[in-house]
Amino acid sequence: MDFSFTEEQLMIQDVARRIAQEKVGPSAEHFDRSGEFPLENIRLMGENGLMGIEVPTEYGGAGMDPVAYVLAMVEIAAADAAHSTIMSVNNSLFCNGILTHGTEAQKQEYVGAIAEGREIGAFALTEPQSGSDATAMRCRAVKQADGSFVINGKKSWITSGPVARYIVLFAMTEPDKGAKGITAFLIDTTKPGFGRGKTEPKLGIRASATCEIEFNDFVATADDVLGKEGEGFKIAMSVLDAGRIGIASQAIGIARAAYEATLAYVKERKAFGQPIGAFQMTQAKIADMKCKLDASLLLTLRAAWLKGQGKRFTTEASVAKLTASEACMWIAHQAVQIHAGMGYSKEMPIERYFRDAKITEIYEGTSEIQRLVIARNETGLR
Ligand code: CAA
Ligand code: FAD
Repeated sequence: MDFSFTEEQLMIQDVARRIAQEKVGPSAEHFDRSGEFPLENIRLMGENGLMGIEVPTEYGGAGMDPVAYVLAMVEIAAADAAHSTIMSVNNSLFCNGILTHGTEAQKQEYVGAIAEGREIGAFALTEPQSGSDATAMRCRAVKQADGSFVINGKKSWITSGPVARYIVLFAMTEPDKGAKGITAFLIDTTKPGFGRGKTEPKLGIRASATCEIEFNDFVATADDVLGKEGEGFKIAMSVLDAGRIGIASQAIGIARAAYEATLAYVKERKAFGQPIGAFQMTQAKIADMKCKLDASLLLTLRAAWLKGQGKRFTTEASVAKLTASEACMWIAHQAVQIHAGMGYSKEMPIERYFRDAKITEIYEGTSEIQRLVIARNETGLR
């Protein structure tokens, strides 16, 4: 077993770290307060290969492996979680699905623009009445005699929805078939029949714009179908397997930032005549933070490595996402507690880490859904 990284992996980590330190970190507070979408930074990240890390170079990406993706995501998330959310949707949920299931023409048309950061992508599975229970979707695509589809319905909580040029959409083509009646489509949002709702005000990741989107007699051609008709749910699930590695990486980045800030603070802040880091109660918290952080990173690298080897990684991705997101929430919570008054103040980024941490336990499958996936796969029971 080799725990070292390749030159390529270290190179993209360095690129991400430089952009994180020079651009993303310094602007994080501004974007958190204003809730503006950080378009200029996203373009810069795209120009530097960070929006299509696993996308082959012939389609405009960096041509690297899933481990490289983890390392880069951690760096960006440590500087600002919202930027890493946008990065993860473009990389994992948008490009990855098209690379795996798309035709050559679809790869040529859709992947380059997103991988190079010229356009923003989105992934639309959730609806107002169906989040965890994704097959209960109602968005309907009705096949016409000429092979095209007319799409009507709503999708909610769509990350980058307010700004996305292209969207991977899941809609019911044959409602009586349940999961097997769902089809994936590639949507160009400049076409008629597409609408966006207002941007959702959120607790955290405030610069990652989220909204409801709506389809009113939107026409998708037969060429806009991603994969085969009726295979949409399996595509969504396999894309989410990979996406969960990205969210685990995001959680590690937020947790690392909270941990590093705490480590510095416990050495400098004094109480009862000594640094607060000398108290055994603080030391136990530091030790537990370190263990959870390392365990999360190792589990996430394992899932990424399996993906890179072309092996099945559904369970490992859920194990990584569950462990890292719960560790992140716990570490951010302890960071606030150790910073106490200063942890609660907007003068330090600790309260932002705490607000940003929570989303990692919710999107791309809640913690309960990760437990369900892991336990179903382990027991074979449901
Ligand atoms: N890979 C491939 N196929 C899969 C699969 C996987 N990982 N998981 C399930 N499938 C297949 C099954 O094999 C089954 O097919 P067959 O009948 O042919 O065997 C079919 O899909 C249906 O599977 P289930 O019966 O297991 O489906 P279910 O209705 O019980 O749901 C679930 C399973 C795991 C709960 C799933 O609905 C789920 O993951 N829900 C959470 C939804 C989610 O994560 N949403 C995220 C939205 S995107 C987002 O959040 C982005 C963002 O924030 C930035
Ligand atoms: P529900 O499914 O209603 O769940 C409510 C509660 O019940 C949860 O605690 C859940 O864990 C629990 N629960 C549900 N089913 C079970 C079960 N079987 N066993 C035990 N407990 C269960 N979706 C997209 O498609 N694209 C996006 O880009 C996207 N971005 C998002 C961005 C943000 C900021 C947010 C908040 C959400 C986003 N989502 C997106 C939606 C996200 O994936 C869903 O919120 C998530 O899957 C949970 O669905 P829900 O909110 O409808 O909760």
